[in-house]
Formats: sequence, structure tokens, C-alpha cells
Amino acid sequence: MHGTENNFLLSSTSTSCNICKINCFDLLKWVTMFTKLCVAATSKISHAFILKDTISHSAVMSKFEIPDRLVGNEKSVWVEYTQLVLKYKPLNLGQGFPDFHAPENVIKALAATTTSDNPLLNQYTRGFGHPRLVNVIAKLFSRLLNRTLDPNNEILITSGAYEALFSTLQGHTNPGDEWIIIEPFFDCYEPMIKVAGGVPRFIPLKPKNINGPLSSADWVFDKQELESLFNEKTKGIILNTPNNPIGKVFSLDELQFISDLAKKWNVLVVSDEVYEWLVYEPAKHIRIATLPGMYERTITIGSAGKTFSITGWKIGWAYGPANLLYNLQVVHQNTVYTCPTPLQEAVAIAFEQELERFDSPDCYFVSLARDLKPKRDFMAKFLSDVGMIPTIPEGGFFMIANWTKLKDKVQLEEETDEYRDYRFTKWMAKNVGVLGIPPSTFYSPEHKYIGEDNVRYCFIKKDENLEKAAELLKKWKSTQ
Ligand SMILES: Cc1ncc(COP(=O)(O)O)c(C=O)c1O
Repeated sequence: MHGTENNFLLSSTSTSCNICKINCFDLLKWVTMFTKLCVAATSKISHAFILKDTISHSAVMSKFEIPDRLVGNEKSVWVEYTQLVLKYKPLNLGQGFPDFHAPENVIKALAATTTSDNPLLNQYTRGFGHPRLVNVIAKLFSRLLNRTLDPNNEILITSGAYEALFSTLQGHTNPGDEWIIIEPFFDCYEPMIKVAGGVPRFIPLKPKNINGPLSSADWVFDKQELESLFNEKTKGIILNTPNNPIGKVFSLDELQFISDLAKKWNVLVVSDEVYEWLVYEPAKHIRIATLPGMYERTITIGSAGKTFSITGWKIGWAYGPANLLYNLQVVHQNTVYTCPTPLQEAVAIAFEQELERFDSPDCYFVSLARDLKPKRDFMAKFLSDVGMIPTIPEGGFFMIANWTKLKDKVQLEEETDEYRDYRFTKWMAKNVGVLGIPPSTFYSPEHKYIGEDNVRYCFIKKDENLEKAAELLKKWKSTQ
């Protein structure tokens, strides 16, 4: 045996060859002893390895647990309910997207862009926004705001309105800064504020009555309560008009009240206006940035997904004064950096086309709401027919409906969730085949009770699917 091997098992190392000097008996004894030594050593080593492995395993596990600032943000209604759709395949009136084709001119613009002679249209573009897109957005909103927007400094193109919200809240929050959120609210506001180190403060919209037919205008905030939330630590207030999930279009009086407080306390207004074109007569969308002295302190957020029924494209924007937008640019350049060029080019073409026919009834900015209104009214009717009390939205494409008169027709005890609306929507998806979203998800824990008696349905769906939903609900209602 050549003693140079297995140095890590035998403590001594021999470089000389001993085999030639020993007899067979000695050799046998030596081999036996060596084998024993090997077994003992191997077992010790593997034991040591196992021990070491156990320690390092738990160390590894704790090292890679979710960071403190993300704790509490693990649950997402969208992730959970998308799973529910995949598993039970209900009619999906949950998430807010059309189940019909996007406008042909928009799709064709994208096809033409990707196959264009210009090779650069499939490559990176300007980080803060593709020039053609920021130019046309500046042109559109200059007209709507009656002021000239600088395309390069007052507009940022983002990965959907989601990223515009994220960049705004990251870019304008110091630890301890307070943000006022009007409930019910698009659910990502709260985790985005917390991750940025801020503190959300909530004020709920409450229905003036709950018995009769309701309009989203009946959902109001208490002015004194709102005023009491403002203080030296307030950094801003998030407004969403038209609101998701209620469809409330904030009135001039309400916006004026918010503006006066914002100016008094020198705070920002983040105005999430992704449904700006989805407003039903006689309601009128008012951009808070157009109120006196408000452009200076407002960041307005929009979405091509909602504007052109292309939610999968995830192109959004923020506009506002250059000094406020600068903070968003810093976040954007260090996270997303640049959004897809062909999508931006195609959205730019779509905007240019709408600008050309801006005052015509064919303009998509007005025709979509006109086409959706009958769907809204159809949904309100079939929900009322089964015994729910819908809130008729003035804007957006969601409708919430109070389902408590039907509580005897659902076996809520079959579901285990904490909140009744979660149990209701899950039971309905599994047993009736219609999926809605639980509105308590749009409230802070202390106000979830306001949403619990309701369900949110989306009506930007094909007529045949809305009719199917009506039939399924009717059938369910007629069974014992
Ligand atoms: C109120 C509100 N804000 C922002 C968004 C996000 O829009 P995007 O899909 O452009 O990221 C949504 C999407 O549903 C929304 O409802």
C-alpha cells in the first residue's frame, strides 16, 4: 500500500513504500487495522459533516427568510384568486381586464412596429420614455390640463401604472413619512408605502345608506375625519378617481376639499387616474392637477392598459412638475431603467390616432365608455334580480354589490378564510361557477368590515359571458 493516499483520513503521511518490507500476515493485520481505522474515520467525518450541514442548513434558512421590511406583504389577492381560476375554472368576473380583442388599430400598430424597417424599434430606447410616446402624451395632457408639459422632464413612462405608483412612493418617502389613503383603495398602495418606510393612514368612504339602490356618489368620506389625519408628518395623499373598486368619480367639491388640505399642509397628491376615460354620463372626470395651485404638488398616474384595453402591455406613465418627477426618474433608472420600445412606439401611434379624432364620437376615449355603459346596466340588473344590492359605478369597469340578503344560500362554513367576503367569493367560484373579488382586500384591517358584505365584479366582458353569469346566478337563486 502506498502511503501517500488518503491523507485526510490518516493523520500521518508516509512518502515511502512499505509493502515490500512486510510479510503476508503482517499485511493482513495491517489491512484489517487500516479498514477499521477507515470506517471509524469515515463515520466520524460523515457525522461531523452531518452536524455541520444541520447547522449551516438552519443558518441558510434564516439568512434567506423574507426581509423585515417585506413581512406582512406576502399575501396577494391576485395571486390567490388566479390560482382559484386555474383550479375551479369559474366564469372570471374577478380581475379587471377585457375578455375581448383590443382595438384593431392598436394591435396593428404593434405588429407594424416590430416588423418595421427601422431595426432600432426593437432595441432599448430612452430610459425615461420613448421620445415618440412622451411627445404625444405631453401633447394630449397639455391640451387637457391647459398648460404646456415638457415631454422630457414632466413625463415618465413606466412599466404599467403599478411602476409609476412604486417609483412615486419610493421616490417621495422618507422613513416615518405618512401617506393618507382613501379606502377602498387599489391594494398595492399600502405595501408600497410600507416597503418605502412610510406609514399609511386610512380614511374610508362609507355609503350614505345601504338599503336602496346605490350610486358610487353615495360613498363619501367624512370631511372632519379626513382633516384630522393631516399633520406635520404627512407627505401626501393618494387619490384614485374614478375609484377601483367602487367606481366613484370624485366631485369638484370633494377634490377642492382635498386640495385645500394639501396646500394647507404642504403635501403631495398622488392622483391615480388609470380609469380617466371610463366615466359614465352624467359624471365628469376632473383632474385634480387642474385645480388652482395643484399642478405644483400633484403627480398624476395613467395606464395604457386601461386606456386602450391592453392590460397585458403594462405601459403606464406619471406626469407632474419636473422637480417632483425627478425623484421618480431616480427610482426608475435604478430599477426598471427602460420600458419595451415596440410597446411604447405602438402606444404612441395609438395616442396619435386618437388625437386626430379627439372630438369625434369614434374616439376610443369616449367610445369605450359608451360601449361599456350597457354592460354596466345589464350587470346591475342581473345582480339586483338575484337579490344583491349593487352600487352603480359612475366610472371604471367594476361593480360592487352587497350580497347579505343571499347569505342563506351560501355555506360560508365550508370555507376557512377570516373575512366573510373571501368565504363568499370562494364558495361562489367553486359551487356556482362565478368568480368575484372580495372587497375587504381594498381596506385596512380596521375597516375591512365595510367591504365584507360586498363582492366586486368586473363588467368589461363579452356580452355572452355577462349573460352566462346572469344565468348561473339565476339558476343558483332558484335552487333551494
Ligand atoms: C386603480 C388602479 N391603479 C393602478 C392599476 C395598475 O395599472 P397597470 O396595469 O397599468 O399597472 C390598476 C390596475 O388594475 C388599478 O385598478
